[in-house]
Parts: sequence; structure tokens; C-alpha cells
Amino acid sequence: MIDFSISAQPPSSAPVGIFDSGVGGLSVLKAVHAMLPNEHLIYVADAAYAPYGDKAPHEILARSQFIVDYLVKRKVKAIVIACNTASAIAARELRQAVDVPIIAIEPAIKPAIAASSNKVIGVLATKNTIASAAFSRLCEQYANGAKLIVQSCPGLVEQIEVGGFSSTTTMALLREYLAPIMAAKADTLVLGCTHYPFLIKQIQEIIGTDVEFIEPSHAVARELANRLKMISAQQLSVTNASINFLSTGNIDIAHHVFTTLWGHVLQVEVLAST
Ligand code: DGL
Repeated sequence: MIDFSISAQPPSSAPVGIFDSGVGGLSVLKAVHAMLPNEHLIYVADAAYAPYGDKAPHEILARSQFIVDYLVKRKVKAIVIACNTASAIAARELRQAVDVPIIAIEPAIKPAIAASSNKVIGVLATKNTIASAAFSRLCEQYANGAKLIVQSCPGLVEQIEVGGFSSTTTMALLREYLAPIMAAKADTLVLGCTHYPFLIKQIQEIIGTDVEFIEPSHAVARELANRLKMISAQQLSVTNASINFLSTGNIDIAHHVFTTLWGHVLQVEVLAST
């Protein structure tokens, strides 16, 4: 008798799904595409519900489940949660709900402590990431006497979502959020939200170029590569690997901001948000 309960191995030609509350996860998508250029990728920005950083956890879980269901219907072979906030709140439940490997992201506290000379580290992240049990565990596990200046950054994601990288509001918020980190003389800065790598130039205008930035997009891409290898699902050679961009938000804004961040003109499709 054939056992139909055994789930079939995904074909290596299946796409990888990547999602975030908005455009922030493009920083992870770039690292994934650079490391795994043969892979077909589907990127979903849940812009209709951005920011996740101060939404109720049950809402973030529901949105993450909605996107994961969509990606599973698209028959992805792996999913990357390119969002620290959704990873902290929803990764465990999502992994229990689906068979597809799920790669999550977390603020790179451990590598930052290793990189810091004076062991004073600034951490920028969303309110929800900082309030999560996962973040507390991370700090307890790795802080080991280092001084962490942890700063939530309400308002920044909203600015990035509309392309306001150097707007007056963005610069004023950055000055406010970086002040305690500068006062403590941190030599290393953890970008604990995938949107923030798109503000490195603006942050450097305020704190200078001596502070080292740490963000985990390359580590996430490596982890994805390892997971695909483990299940023998790597796409070893292909020409014209596709990247499919979708957003639940305003499509004109999405088209403009995606194109700015990706570096060339892109087509962004609408994904109905319910
Ligand atoms: N980019 C996300 C993160 O890494 C979400 C930010 C937000 O939507 O508030 O946390």
C-alpha cells in the first residue's frame, strides 16, 4: 500500500518565498540573490499592514500566517522571514504550521559583541522586537558583560516605506534615537530591523564613519543555502532566475520605492491583503 502521508521532496526548480512588512526585507533579498543567483524568488511586502513594529502580536501572527499560506500555495521550497519583528513573534508557530523550512532573522547581537573593541553596542530595532521574549533570550545569552544600548525607533519604517530616506522627519528621528548610543560611545551598531540598512548613509551623517554596522542578511542567505543543500533542493544552474515582487499596499508607491531600493525598474504585482 502506498503511504500518501509522506510529503514529496520539492523540486529544485521551486521558488523560495521571502517576506517582510514592507520593503525592508529587500536588504535580505539582495543578499539571497547575490549568494544564490540561480534561485527563483518570490518577495512579498505586506505594506498594507506596515509597520509591524507596534502592531499587536496576534495581528502580526495572523498576517505572517496569511503570507506563509500564500507562499505555500505558490509551492515554495523554503520561506525566509525577512523581518525581525515577525521572526520574534511568529517564527515558532509558523514552523509548527507548515512543512516547508522556515528561516528566520534576529538582531545580530552575538557578532556585534565579537566585533566591538570597547564592548559598548547600540541596538536599533522595533518596539515589538525589543519587547519579545526571543530578544530578551538573545541578550541574556550573549551580552556577557557587554553594554547594550537598546533603542526602539517608531516612525522610521513609515518613512522608508514612502521613500523618505533623507526627509526632515527621518533625520530628526535618527538624531533622537542615536543620541543615547552616541553618548555611551558605542563603537558598533546592530541594525535589528531589515529596513534600517537602507539608512546607513543617513546614520553615518549623524554618527560618523567610525562605528561598525552589523546586520545579518548575509548570515540569513548562508543559512538558506545550507537548508536547501540539506534537503537537496538547490537550483544548481539556470539562466534567467526570476524574481517576483508583490505588495499588499499602494502599488504606485511600491513600484517607486522597490525600484529605488533595487536599483533598476521593477514590476510589482498587487497581492490582495485578505
Ligand atoms: N523590517 C521589519 C523588521 O525587521 C519590520 C519593521 C516594521 O514593520 O515595523 O523588524
